[in-house]
Amino acid sequence: MLIFATSDKGGTGRSVTSSNVLYRSALQGSDVCYLDFDFGSPTAGSIFNINHALRGTTRGGLHSYLDGAHGEPQRIDVWAESDRPSLRDRPPGAGRLVLLPGDSGGGEFPTTRENIERCARLFLRLEEEFDVTLVDLSAGRSYATEIVLAATARAELRSVRWRWLVFHRWTRQHVLAASGLVHGQRGIVETGIRHGHDRTRLTESLRFVRTAVVDPDSPELEGLQPAQLAWLRACNQDLLELASRERVGRTLVLGSVPLDPVLQWREQLISDNDVWARRIANRETVEAFDSLAKRIVDDTAWETL
Ligand SMILES: Nc1ncnc2c1ncn2[C@@H]1O[C@H](COP(=O)(O)OP(=O)(O)OP(=O)(O)O)[C@@H](O)[C@H]1O
Ligand SMILES: [Mg+2]
Repeated sequence: MLIFATSDKGGTGRSVTSSNVLYRSALQGSDVCYLDFDFGSPTAGSIFNINHALRGTTRGGLHSYLDGAHGEPQRIDVWAESDRPSLRDRPPGAGRLVLLPGDSGGGEFPTTRENIERCARLFLRLEEEFDVTLVDLSAGRSYATEIVLAATARAELRSVRWRWLVFHRWTRQHVLAASGLVHGQRGIVETGIRHGHDRTRLTESLRFVRTAVVDPDSPELEGLQPAQLAWLRACNQDLLELASRERVGRTLVLGSVPLDPVLQWREQLISDNDVWARRIANRETVEAFDSLAKRIVDDTAWETL
């Protein structure tokens, strides 16, 4: 299964949420692989605490693989190579957790027939080896998005299953932006069709993920003034209505991740230790990641309504 993680805006929580979801998948026993296709800013190594690839790698990453400079992109076994002690050593029952970093100083590049073919070949190889391959794309209408839409439309990938996750924050601008990225001009659907995708299959393979959401009914907000709480509830209601009008509504949401204090301060994987022993992260956050890890591969969560 290939999962494409995208967002219209930057800083939505796409990379941190995707990394945590994939980490949870691995803990649940799946073999998983994370591809940093954010070519302009390949910093996924820092979320997994890989010190030699904090801003991408100099040892032949995805960018130079797609460019044809290397036959194989570098692979990092997170359980073996993470510099964070609590991520070292694969826990019993966990699957593989592998990161394919981007190249440091890479930058975006145009789509060519050759790099689309290399991308398709890579996806086919990873598909044989891993249960879930998650591709973290550059934000917006990027070359990275165009390359993967072109690659997945190719005949040799016809039998491969793929799905799209569109991340957005729970604000007016983000809801509008997420909807525009999917349905708007030069958006995912339009670009996908131009590359030969079927509109229905593509649309049915897209779901939204809301990040850093504050629940107006959360007990944590009890300290707020009544006027503030009433305003927050009214805003939330407006957003629910806007999301539904913009085809970003509840039925198309795969999951929602609450605002978490740890993630607000640092981009990292939240371990069980952070929740249960150190008590720095919220249980609800990890539950949301766990639920997303199950739902990305659960066909019933993707059934058409
Ligand atoms: N649930 C959350 N609660 C609080 N903060 C969060 C949450 N999810 C993500 N963040 C924070 O939001 C910031 C942006 O997240 P992240 O880097 O994952 O976004 P992104 O969409 O990948 O951004 P970019 O476009 O720059 O790659 C980070 O500091 C991250 O830790
Ligand atoms: Mg990112």
